[in-house]
Amino acid sequence: MEKNIFIKYQELDSFNLLSELEIKIVKEAKLVANLAYAPYSNFHVGAALLLENNQIIKGNNQENTSFPCGICAERVALFSAKSNFPDLLIKKIAITAKTNSFELNGPVGPCGLCRQVLLEYEEQQKHDIEVILFDTKKIIKLARAKDLLPFYFQENKLKKNNL
Ligand code: THU
Repeated sequence: MEKNIFIKYQELDSFNLLSELEIKIVKEAKLVANLAYAPYSNFHVGAALLLENNQIIKGNNQENTSFPCGICAERVALFSAKSNFPDLLIKKIAITAKTNSFELNGPVGPCGLCRQVLLEYEEQQKHDIEVILFDTKKIIKLARAKDLLPFYFQENKLKKNNL
């Protein structure tokens, strides 16, 4: 049987269409991208999370000469939030990237590892995490992280059954 998955998202062409708090995290994501340690890729990513108390937690990508040691902006922000404020809901995440090596063609989406991490926190907190991907011209809004990763790996798959 053939089945389809539809993903709903919004594409916006003006930052005026965002709420005040959304504009705030968008600005913070942009600022923190400039502070990324990315001398190898020259690809600077910034992520800013909005917590339920309206606190903003930021992260950027951190690279290393031993390549696998690096980590993405999204996970820096997410792990920081969950380390310091494990009980506060994450309401939104704004993500952006910049490089002066070439022209970026639209907003950048999070890598698979970051999607998995984002999704587990979303499931755990039982509250959707809105995802805002943006560049200078365009904004893509998804209502929940789950939409970024169909057929994701879930914790219950680790549970042994009584075979
Ligand atoms: N990167 C992120 O920070 N987030 C993503 O979702 C994709 C990629 C970083 C990792 C690496 O430092 C650089 O971008 C190039 O891949």
